[in-house]
Amino acid sequence: MPHFNIYNKSSEDMSETADNSVDIVIFAPPYNINTPYDDIEDSDFKGFEEYKNLLNKIIKESARVLKDGGIFLNESADTICSGSKMIALSGLIQKLCLENGLSLQSRNINFMNSKEGIELTDMEHNWSDNYYTEEDAHSVCHQWLLFKKGQTKFDFDNNKVFYVDYPSDEDGHPCPFSPEHIKIFLNITNFKSGMKVLEPFMGTARMGEEVIKRGGEYIGYELAEKHFKTAENRLSSIA
Ligand SMILES: C[S@@+](CC[C@H](N)C(=O)[O-])C[C@H]1O[C@@H](n2cnc3c(N)ncnc32)[C@H](O)[C@@H]1O
Repeated sequence: MPHFNIYNKSSEDMSETADNSVDIVIFAPPYNINTPYDDIEDSDFKGFEEYKNLLNKIIKESARVLKDGGIFLNESADTICSGSKMIALSGLIQKLCLENGLSLQSRNINFMNSKEGIELTDMEHNWSDNYYTEEDAHSVCHQWLLFKKGQTKFDFDNNKVFYVDYPSDEDGHPCPFSPEHIKIFLNITNFKSGMKVLEPFMGTARMGEEVIKRGGEYIGYELAEKHFKTAENRLSSIA
């Protein structure tokens, strides 16, 4: 039987998962920019304080369930424009992680829309062709930040630049990981067979499928029922 436990609820409360029991957390948060994750209108829009508190609660829960020395990988846009406010999202996540006992280890940058290494503007997502927006949007530049639970030193020599795009709307999800994301994330987090991986924002569990196929255990939390059901079907059908 494949090893997984998935929950159709907010990861603000992950009390089903024991303290110090998880090797790797993959954290790919919603951006608070009205992304249509489910059929509920405005489900991805809150005031800034409410959004920040949500991120903080989930980072605190992630730090609780991680083993000492466990890895927390943040995959987020560098900046977001949310309700006409600019937010330095990756900076905010770094601050919240540090306050919750997660030390920054290395910083990787990904340009999700590029050609021959040049950053392109994202006209499908509210940007104009002169790299300008006043609407809800997120930067094409993403930060893939590796944190460790406990005290560690930042590794200035270990930072990399990637150019990986997202698949468009497969499984009815607006931003699933591509197979390339999953391969890179399992590589930079040093995943090994037998490890336990948790996603507080599971989506349709493409990551979970690969973790299980490689001999790991998987825990996922997903608020939207539609995506939870897709994830459940995907994971249950692994032989
Ligand atoms: C950026 S997407 C992550 C997609 C995922 N990496 C994948 O490969 O499908 C964020 C996901 O988090 C879900 N979500 C939003 N708020 C949540 C919460 N409080 N708890 C759990 N899931 C949440 C959304 O429905 C969405 O599927």
